Amino acid sequence: MVELKESGLISWIHRRKTVSWQHPAVRALVPVIDSVDRVVRNASSDGRSNVPRYSERIRSNGMRHQFGGRLFLDSGRADVAALVKQGVLSSRTDVLDIGCGVGRLTTALVDVLESGTYIGLDVDQPSIQSCTQNLLFREPTFHFEHLDAASELYNPSGGEDSRSISLPLATASRDLIVAMSLFTHLFTKECENYAREMLRILRPGGAIVVTALLIDPDSPVGDFRHDVNGAHVSAKNMPRKGVAYTRQDVTRWFGPDHMLLRGRWHADGVFEAPRQQDWVVVRPHERSSP
Ligand SMILES: C[S@@+](CC[C@H](N)C(=O)[O-])C[C@H]1O[C@@H](n2cnc3c(N)ncnc32)[C@H](O)[C@@H]1O
Repeated sequence: MVELKESGLISWIHRRKTVSWQHPAVRALVPVIDSVDRVVRNASSDGRSNVPRYSERIRSNGMRHQFGGRLFLDSGRADVAALVKQGVLSSRTDVLDIGCGVGRLTTALVDVLESGTYIGLDVDQPSIQSCTQNLLFREPTFHFEHLDAASELYNPSGGEDSRSISLPLATASRDLIVAMSLFTHLFTKECENYAREMLRILRPGGAIVVTALLIDPDSPVGDFRHDVNGAHVSAKNMPRKGVAYTRQDVTRWFGPDHMLLRGRWHADGVFEAPRQQDWVVVRPHERSSP
């Protein structure tokens, strides 16, 4: 998860040119934190006992406020509630979740989907393994698949390229395609390819929801000073830590028929998205739908 404001231990870790969960000090500590985290979660009566281990959650959701599992559960529920509110998710929806991580969204989707189905894809094999072993996701309508695209952080020996990979789904086969905090780690050609694939896989009448960091080049908000082939990054030594784009980029990827729910950090203070990042809601067939 992209964290715009960092402090203390986390900013020190990032100065060491690594992501938090890969830092040797964090790796040494997580077995202990996992045990205490499990005790805390098991003592709760609000569904946290089944969320993935702390060491698994921090791979895709950052370290801040992860202990105890409350944020993991609540943020997944908030996103799912927002999808329902936008009219793109119901109990019958067939969902594709690209970059599903350890199932933050999935945890909340379990309570919503009835006849609808779920497919989660991710390049991180340990995250996919965590999902396939998670008792919450044992329904036959929930399916997870490892995507073997190379990723310096998550899948260094991957045999495929995100700029050209074909996602393993049939054309026009899903009603809702989500990618939460995925485009915030991808470069331009990768975003272009994933957007193309999403539009191919989407059923007529369906919707795509991606979260992104959308900067206004004239706005002083954010610190995305470095240009990497059209992508705006803040940390040159760790460019994939947070990748921002403009509204024009989104239009180029998905076409003009999209709506923006603005994230928490726009210069004018207007805030419409459920959480920090901007939400892009694409309904490409809306005009031709009956
Ligand atoms: C910040 S995490 C977000 C996880 C999840 N969507 C969520 O909101 O909790 C980004 C996820 O994208 C995955 N990822 C990174 N590059 C990817 C790629 N090229 N294709 C698919 N997944 C990717 C990572 O393994 C990671 O699990």
